[in-house]
This record gives sequence, C-alpha cells and structure tokens, in this order.
Amino acid sequence: MNQLLSREMQMKEIFHYPVMYREVIDLLDIKNKKIIVDCTAGLGSHALKFADSLSADSYYIGIDKDEETLKIVNDKLSKLNIKFSLINEDFANVDVALKKIGISRADIFLFDLGISMYQLTNPERGFSFTNEGPLDMRMNRASFISAYDLINNLSELELENIFKKFGEERYSRRIAHVLIEKRQHEPISTTTQLTQAILSAMPQSAFKYKIHPATRIFQALRIAVNRELEALETGLIKAVNLLNPGGRIGVISFHSLEDRIVKHAFKEFSSQGVLKIITKKPITPGKEELAENIASRSGKLRIAEKI
Ligand SMILES: C[S@@+](CC[C@H](N)C(=O)[O-])C[C@H]1O[C@@H](n2cnc3c(N)ncnc32)[C@H](O)[C@@H]1O
Repeated sequence: MNQLLSREMQMKEIFHYPVMYREVIDLLDIKNKKIIVDCTAGLGSHALKFADSLSADSYYIGIDKDEETLKIVNDKLSKLNIKFSLINEDFANVDVALKKIGISRADIFLFDLGISMYQLTNPERGFSFTNEGPLDMRMNRASFISAYDLINNLSELELENIFKKFGEERYSRRIAHVLIEKRQHEPISTTTQLTQAILSAMPQSAFKYKIHPATRIFQALRIAVNRELEALETGLIKAVNLLNPGGRIGVISFHSLEDRIVKHAFKEFSSQGVLKIITKKPITPGKEELAENIASRSGKLRIAEKI
C-alpha cells in the first residue's frame, strides 16, 4: 500500500515540458483571446504557462482522453485564479466535449500530439520499451483494444501493415513473422517480451543507429491502438469549423505522419478560403529550448487563422 501511494505521489511530480510554449503563447495570441481550447491538456504544463497571459474573462478548456492526467491538471489549475473546465473526451469529439459545457465556438484550439511524460514513464501503461510493463498503450484506459490484443490476435499481414504504415519500419515483414512464431508458444504480454522479439528479428545492421531498434514498432502500435491519425483528421476539421473568425489553431506534431495530415488539412482549408496559414514552414524548437528539453527536438508547430 505504501509502495502504491509513493508511486502515485511520484507520478504526480512528473514534469512534462510544454513544447514551444513561448511560440505557442505568442503566435496563438493567448493574451487577446477569450475561449481557449487545449485539446491535449496532458499534465497541464502548457496551461500553467498560459495562466499569466489569461485575462479575467478568459476561459481555459482542457480536453484529454486520459482521465488520470486530468485529475492532475485539476489539482494544478485549482490553485490558480483562472476560469477553467476539464473534459475527459477524445478530441475527435471536440464538438461534443464543448457542447457538454454549453460552448459553441472558440478563439483558440491547441493540439500537442502524442503522449505525456506521465504516460510514457508509468510502466503500468506499457508505452515504453525501457520499462517492463503490460502491453497496454491505451491513452484511454476505458477503451477496449490494447497493444496486447493487436500483437496476439492480428494476422501476420495485418501486423506487417501496421508496422509499415504507422512506423515506416524497414523490417516490418521479418518482425511480424517472428511475433507470429513466438506467440504460438505463449502470448506476448509484456513490453520486454515484445522488445526482445523485435530485436531478435532485426539484422545486425539495424543496431548501428542512434535510435533504439524498437522505437518504430512501439510508435506504430501506439498509433494503431489509439487510432491517432483518424482522431487527428477528424479533430482538425471539427476544430476549424468551431473557430471564431480571427481565431487561431495550432498543432505540435512529433512525426512525419502527423505533420503531413496537419499540412494537408491547413492547405485544403486555405484553398477553400477558410484558413490563412500563419506558419509557411513549421516552427521547430530553438536552441534555448533544446538545451532545456532535448526530447522536443522532433516537434513541429503549425499555426493557421480562421478567415
Ligand atoms: C504530449 S501530451 C500533451 C502535454 C500538454 N500539452 C502539457 O503541456 O502538459 C499529449 C496528451 O494528449 C492526449 N491525447 C492524445 N490523443 C488524444 C485524443 N485523440 N483525444 C484527447 N486527448 C488525446 C494524451 O492522453 C496526452 O495526455
């Protein structure tokens, strides 16, 4: 029990660096906007940075599909003098989420994609190949399909396709084949078992890169389990429709599949005369930020304004 409690306390202390927060505050013009929808509230680190820029009539709305993290955000924001609501929803349902609190339009939408440090560093959540834990990877723990289900039930071809499409993994076929062989003896149920199986399928040449050889497969599984790309496509369209004229939308992405979706969506809306693109090229973290948080090095920020 004591161990459990101390783990809980430890998790509450986890810090998530708010990627490109200076640029976000500046380019989304947080100071002059009233209704701010943070579609990925995470650990509330962006929210805490926004707090100084919020006026008495500003309203911060934080959405996250992970109920656990929202409890932590609530603890943090309750100590401040700001008007806020937190909603446990998928941002693909951002319209439904806002309806719940009687909001029909907003001035800002922010998406900071992926997972938080809280999720990544908690072994129980199964997101990391460096921590032994169950093969889970669900951002929303009430959802039905976990990484365990995919790894142990999909066909070899289905697994190969997931690894190729969402991980752009060169050795997808070999890895899928090894996984099918291994699971015939016993289910693959932990992050360590999965990592070992991936490593055993890789040729020696795959070990010479800086990036851990299991990175792409873990990314692919996470995207598949949480249907991340579908949620992004739907969430972006809904957010743009809910934006007030003059309002801004910002998206921070961490891999090319996400960035491609954002770039195309903004382009499409811009050609329809709905959005004006503010960042012709994506913004990336500056030297100062990289010195503080090297993990943000793959971040790309795109911003557009509703016409
Ligand atoms: C990178 S973290 C955000 C960190 C946050 N900006 C902060 O400063 O603490 C991403 C968060 O988005 C949430 N998330 C990812 N996809 C989501 C979706 N489709 N709907 C709602 N929340 C989502 C994750 O659960 C995670 O908490």
